[in-house]
Amino acid sequence: MSFFTYKNGEMHAEGVALATIATQVGTPFYCYSAGALRAAWKEFADGIKGLNASVCYAMKANSNLAVVRLFGDMGAGADIVSVGEMHRALAAGIPAGRIIYSGVGKKPSELMAALEAGVGQINIESSAELETLNAVAGQLGVKADITIRVNPDVDAKTHAKITTGRKENKFGIDLDLAREAFALAGRLPNLKVVGVAMHIGSQLTTVTPYRDAIVRVRELIGQLRADGHKIDRFDIGGGLGIVYADERPPSIAEFMAVVARETDGLGCELTFEPGRRLVGEAGVLVGEVILVKPGSAKTFVIVDAAMNDLIRPTLYEAWHDILPVRQARPEAATIRCDIVGPICESGDFLAQNRDLPPLAAGDLIMVRSAGAYGAVMGSSYNTRPLAPEVMVDGTRFAVTRPRPTIEEMLSAERFPPWMEKSKA
Ligand code: LLP
Repeated sequence: MSFFTYKNGEMHAEGVALATIATQVGTPFYCYSAGALRAAWKEFADGIKGLNASVCYAMKANSNLAVVRLFGDMGAGADIVSVGEMHRALAAGIPAGRIIYSGVGKKPSELMAALEAGVGQINIESSAELETLNAVAGQLGVKADITIRVNPDVDAKTHAKITTGRKENKFGIDLDLAREAFALAGRLPNLKVVGVAMHIGSQLTTVTPYRDAIVRVRELIGQLRADGHKIDRFDIGGGLGIVYADERPPSIAEFMAVVARETDGLGCELTFEPGRRLVGEAGVLVGEVILVKPGSAKTFVIVDAAMNDLIRPTLYEAWHDILPVRQARPEAATIRCDIVGPICESGDFLAQNRDLPPLAAGDLIMVRSAGAYGAVMGSSYNTRPLAPEVMVDGTRFAVTRPRPTIEEMLSAERFPPWMEKSKA
């Protein structure tokens, strides 16, 4: 079921016309469908039924407090990569014990903050970090529950910038060095090894790389147990893909069936860290056409949403579907165009060489599958305010992050004292 559909020729998020939100909030804005978020969560919740497993939402995909709370209220834990995200998770109501702290470079002060807050699990990615955490935990007089993230060296067959499980990526500890790292962890008095973690990439559209990686990690778990380690948890990471164009990612049921088969008899509690799959298709970015500029090579549709709002097209050559908010007449001819923002960079585009029905100044467009790695990767480049975020639930909607005023943006900055102009 799609939560973004045309009704009477107008694109709606559930029961709310996007044009109505645009009138009240202005453009550009992100819009999330609570129904779509719940449906995505339910797929996971159903998928892990019968398994000894839990789901920690990878907040980096979309850390809007309302989104995180929605998942938390349904039982999600959180996968975080910074102390900032930890505070968001806690503010959204996720208990510290259900938080996993991931990341390749955590500072001692960040590890300290995480231990003080009581996060449930810290995923460690290097021997150096084992030593640092041991020291920090010692200072606090606590024992830290950790997993070690290993790098199973499988090809996730995704974009180079979002593949993480190859040897040449910075993430995790190589499988052939893993036993050494576990041995070190076992010797460090303030660490308690609870398991093994992996995360092989993002926007995966087949289960094969997961299966290959699990087979490798399973073998490692056998060796680690033979070495005397207690391995109770296996954190499988996130990475399941969504539909942007014509991808056919596996259903959660298919994915879980493979995971269940490959981990059968392993005796590990499983953890999943999905981000994109929970939020990606549940969000859209809405912008308004500023003007249309026909050129000799192609037509440019210049909209008020730009690369600072959604950087994925230019950063990853990502393809996002774009639809007019007012439905085009079926017989309407299309024009080939680039949908671009007003930023002074040729990389500022949302779509290139797209065939769209004719658009005119004032028309609204909707960029689909923008709920993941959209707003969170936004910047205020060109002193463009961060796009507001709106949540729709049935026929209700609310702004969950307002657009900052220019005044608010400027108020965060200071002149050095010697540059102050006297007010007199
Ligand atoms: N766990 C770990 C340790 C991760 O590094 C990530 C994502 C996830 C979980 C969640 O992965 P997901 O289920 O969302 O694929 N900005 C890029 C994606 C970067 C993903 C980074 N790590 C994009 O827009 O495609």
